[in-house]
Amino acid sequence: MNRKIVIIVHYSLFIVLLQLLFQKNLLTLHRKKLLVTKKMIYLKTEEEIELIRQSCLMVSKTLAMLAPLVQPDVSTACLDRIAEEFIRDNGGIPSCKGYEGYPNATCMSLNDTVVHGIPSEKTILQNGDVLSIDMDVMMNGFNGDSAYTFCVGEVSDRVKHLLKTTKEALYVGIEQACAGNRVGDISYSIQTYCENENFSVVRDMVGHGLGRGMHEDPQVPNNGKRGYGPMLKSGMVICIEPMINLGKYPIFIEADGWTARTKDHTVSAHYEHAVAIRKGKADILSDFRIIEEALKK
Ligand code: MF3
Ligand code: CO
Repeated sequence: MNRKIVIIVHYSLFIVLLQLLFQKNLLTLHRKKLLVTKKMIYLKTEEEIELIRQSCLMVSKTLAMLAPLVQPDVSTACLDRIAEEFIRDNGGIPSCKGYEGYPNATCMSLNDTVVHGIPSEKTILQNGDVLSIDMDVMMNGFNGDSAYTFCVGEVSDRVKHLLKTTKEALYVGIEQACAGNRVGDISYSIQTYCENENFSVVRDMVGHGLGRGMHEDPQVPNNGKRGYGPMLKSGMVICIEPMINLGKYPIFIEADGWTARTKDHTVSAHYEHAVAIRKGKADILSDFRIIEEALKK
């Protein structure tokens, strides 16, 4: 009898320990101190999805407007100013500015910066660089969010391959974004696709739900297991955003509290689409076509 109790107590302690460990893992996944304790996935109506689409299209239009300006000798602060003016002129609010103290309208992440690079007069683009531009625009109470990685002049074949693989991985992930699948199906497909090319998947930053909030549940990691995680349903809007490194996956945050860089200082790529699940299927709300049209000119 006593022995049984001892075993039960040990077992309970073991479970508590596991939970603590598990929770710690979850916490490291949370973006930027965004500690969501209760999982709350807000489903959107068709009307709300259309509003999010409008905000996402404003992000895409801003990225398309910037595309031809991503050239050697331009500073990221200059690109940020032009973006902010464009967003405001078009009736949008650049919702990154002031978010948890973030100072700018856009995130400009150069080369080994993975995400959340702060635009600066001192960051001057050079031939061979790659620049990820990520931003949120709020219109009618709903956020849009998308990111694209641009080449500055001529980049190496290896970096070109990283960009191509990361963008393809985004679409491979989107294919899994249908009702009845789980978040882990998206994560697994992205991870497998990139690791097959010997690139590595950033663990500490994840995609997320999108709506009135810039970061809503669920989290959408780029690594994971098939069949695990929250079930996807019609009405969900999620941002899928592979962050893929040429070298190893560990990253660190600089003293500014934002800039996330690869520990081994290899180049990182980042593409992000906001995706709604409508009538069971993925509907991409942001638009890379207009960006790529602008790049051709
Ligand atoms: N789209 C970016 C993200 O989801 C926007 C960041 S704004 C910032 O992380 F303020 F958090 F940098
Ligand atoms: Co984003």
